[in-house]
Amino acid sequence: MILVNENKKQFHLQNDQVSYIIHILKNDHVGHLYFGKRISHSEDFSYLYNEGERAATSYVYEGDLNFSLDLVQQEYPVYGTTDYRYPALHIEQENGSRVSNFTYQSHQIYQGKPELTGLPQTYTEDESEAETLEILLYDSLLQAELVLCYTIFKDYGVITRSSRIINKGPQFFQLDRALSASIDFFDSNYDMVQLSGSWSRERHVKERALESGVQSIGSTRGTSSSQQNPFYALKRKHTTEDQGEVYGFSLVYSGNFLAQVEVDHYDMARASIGIQPFDFSWKLEQGESFQTPEAVLVYSDEGLNGMSQTYHQLYRNRLVRGEWRDQTRPVLINNWEATYFDFDEEKILQIASEAKDLGVELFVLDDGWFGNRNDDTTSLGDWFIDESKLPNGIKDLSEKVTALGLDFGLWFEPEMVSKVSELYKAHPDWLISVPGRGMSHGRNQYVLDFSRQEVVDYIYNQMAAILREAQITYVKWDMNRYMTEIGSGVLSSERQKEVPHRYILGVYDLYERLTSEFPHILFESCASGGARFDPGMLYYAPQTWTSDDTDAIERLKIQYGTSMVYPLSSMGAHVSEVPNHQVRRVTSLKTRAEVAFFGMFGYELDPTKMSEAEKEEVRAQVEFYKHYRSLIQTGNFYRLLTPFEGDQNQTAWMVVAEDQSTALIGYYQILARANDGFKRLQLKGLEPDAKYNIQESHSYEDYRVEPGAMERFGDEIMYAGLNLGPGYSGTQAGGIEETGDFTSKLWVLKKV
Ligand code: DGJ
Repeated sequence: MILVNENKKQFHLQNDQVSYIIHILKNDHVGHLYFGKRISHSEDFSYLYNEGERAATSYVYEGDLNFSLDLVQQEYPVYGTTDYRYPALHIEQENGSRVSNFTYQSHQIYQGKPELTGLPQTYTEDESEAETLEILLYDSLLQAELVLCYTIFKDYGVITRSSRIINKGPQFFQLDRALSASIDFFDSNYDMVQLSGSWSRERHVKERALESGVQSIGSTRGTSSSQQNPFYALKRKHTTEDQGEVYGFSLVYSGNFLAQVEVDHYDMARASIGIQPFDFSWKLEQGESFQTPEAVLVYSDEGLNGMSQTYHQLYRNRLVRGEWRDQTRPVLINNWEATYFDFDEEKILQIASEAKDLGVELFVLDDGWFGNRNDDTTSLGDWFIDESKLPNGIKDLSEKVTALGLDFGLWFEPEMVSKVSELYKAHPDWLISVPGRGMSHGRNQYVLDFSRQEVVDYIYNQMAAILREAQITYVKWDMNRYMTEIGSGVLSSERQKEVPHRYILGVYDLYERLTSEFPHILFESCASGGARFDPGMLYYAPQTWTSDDTDAIERLKIQYGTSMVYPLSSMGAHVSEVPNHQVRRVTSLKTRAEVAFFGMFGYELDPTKMSEAEKEEVRAQVEFYKHYRSLIQTGNFYRLLTPFEGDQNQTAWMVVAEDQSTALIGYYQILARANDGFKRLQLKGLEPDAKYNIQESHSYEDYRVEPGAMERFGDEIMYAGLNLGPGYSGTQAGGIEETGDFTSKLWVLKKV
C-alpha cells in the first residue's frame, strides 16, 4: 500500500480508493503533492510539483528566486521561514527563538499501526489491515526529533495521521502549537461543513464557502463541546449527499481542539486539525516527548453520505473496542426524566418491574443515588449510597433489579465535585483553580484536577469498589460543566497551560483502567447530553447520550447532524414522555419511537403512569426494535431528506443491511399542510434488480403480519421512488395520526 521512490524521496500511500502522495522538499521538509481519488502509481510524481518566482515573497536560499515555503504545498509546516500561513508546529525555545527547521533524516514503513500510548485511536486487528509510514525529521540546533506518522487502511478510504516531538538536547523548549495534521490543498474551491450547536441542539449541520483568510471552529471549554464538534468536511461546490468529492477531518480527541482552514493569496487551502493552540503549551525537557492525538482523514467521491459511511464503518469496527463492539445493545429504561432526584427504592423497583413487563432489558439508575443528593447542589465526589433513599445499598438494589430479570446500570459523574461533599472537605485543593482568583461554577459544581494522578486514583478506587460489589452491567459517565480559571496546584508555573490536555489524559487513564477491569460493562459517555460526543470517547465508551433534548422533532436535526461522522451504534436515543420536558411539544408515541429506533434505543419515562393501551404499544415497539436492532447497529445508514435545507419540513433516512436483504426507512413530517402535493421518496442502497416486500407501519401490529402487501423492485423504489400515498388533502375529517403535525412513517423492506 505504500510505494516509495527512494531517489526522489516520494511516498505514495494508496489503496483501491485513495491516493496520498508526499515528498521531501528542497530544504528537506515534507511537501504535499496529492490527496484524493486513487491514481495510478508513477515512478516519479515531480510533475505535480511547482515552484517559481513570484513577486513580493521571501526565499529560502540566496541566489534562488524560486523556492519559497510561501508557495509550496506542505505537510507539517513549522514556523519561521518564508511561510506566512499558520504552521502546524510552533516551538518557543530557551533563547527566545521560535524558528525551527526539521529536516528529513530517514523513514520506515511497516505493516499495521503503532499504538499511541495513553490516547484513543483507531486500530487494526490484524497487521495486514493497514500499513504505516513514519518519517523522521531532525532539528539540529534544537536537537529535537519530529516523527510524522501516516497509516493507510486497506479497506477504507482513510489516512490517519499524528506526530511526535522528542527533545534530545540539553535545553528545554515549549510547544505552543502541535497540531495533528495539516494539508495544503492545491485550490480552495470548497465549502466547509461543520457540526455546530449548543446544549440540547448539538451538531446541527452548517455550511459556508471557503474564503480568503482563516475560517475555523474549535473549543476552549476543556471538552470537545456541544458548540463545535472536532470535525469538518471540505466538499466541492457540486457535491451532494451521494455524488462528488468530499474530504473529512475528524480528531480522535475529547479536549480543546482547533479545526482550521486558511485560504492564502494563491487560493491554496491549508486544512489543519489538532489540539487547540490557544492557551496551550507543553514543556519538553531532555528525553521527553509529546504525542499528538490522531486525525482521521477521509476522502470520498460519493458525496457526504460516502464520507459518513466510511467514518461509520471505521469507527464502529476499528475505533470502538471491547466486548460491546459487536454485541447487540440492550433496550434500556433510564429514570432521569421519570423521577429526577425524587425517588426511593420502592419507586425504582416499580419502574423496573413495569419496564420488565414491557420487554425492556436494562434499568439505569441516573443521578441522585449517592451522598445526600436531592438536587444538583451537593454530593458529587461522594460515591457512596444515600441510605435515606436506598437503605439497603446499591448491591442489594442491583440484585433486586437483576432478580426481576433486568440488568442494572448506574450513573456517575467522575470528574466533578460539589463544595457540599465529603470529598471537598477532605481535599479542597483537588479542584482546577488559580490562586487568588474566584472559582466559577457550572451547575453548582467544580472540576476535579484530573491532571493529578492521585485524584484519578482516588476516583478509580471509589468507582471500582462499587462496580466490584454490585451487579452492574452498564455505566453512564456524565460530565456537566466546562472548565474555567484553569490551573493546577501541583504543576510549575511554566506548565500551567498543560492542564487541559493533562486533564483529558487523566480522563482517558480512568476510562482505560475501568474498561480493562470491567470488560463486561457497557459504558455510555455523556456530557450534559452531547457535549463530548467525539471519537476519543467512543474508543472507551461504545455509545454516547446524543443530547439531553429528547423531543422527537428536535432529535431529527440532532441525529441527522450526528450521523455525518458517527454511526447509529454510537447514538443513545430514548422515548420520553409528553409534553416533552425540553420544548413542551406533544408528539405521538409512534413518532417518538420511530425517531429513537435509529439509534441505541431506550425509554426515559415512568411506565407506571402509562395507560394499558400505551403499554401495549411500547411492548410492540420493544419487540420490533429487538427484531431489527442488529440491522440498525451494523447496517449502512443513508440520509434521504435533510431537515437543514429547503422548507425544513421533512426528514427521512434509512438503514440497509450489509447484504441488502432488509432495510428500515423512517420518514418524518414536521408540520401538516392543507392541500399538500403528493410525494415520493427516493430510496438508496438497495439491490436494483431485487424485489422487495414493503411493509408500512400503521400500528406495530403490522410488523407481526408477514408478508407485507406490496412488492416492488429495488430500482423502482430507488430511482422512481417510494410512493408516500395520497396524504391528507385538507378537506376531510380523519387521518390526523398519520398525516398531521409531527407524524412519522416507518417501512420495513425485505428482499423477496
Ligand atoms: C445530564 C445528562 O445528560 C442527563 O441525562 C442526566 O444524566 C443528568 N445530567 C443528571 O444530572
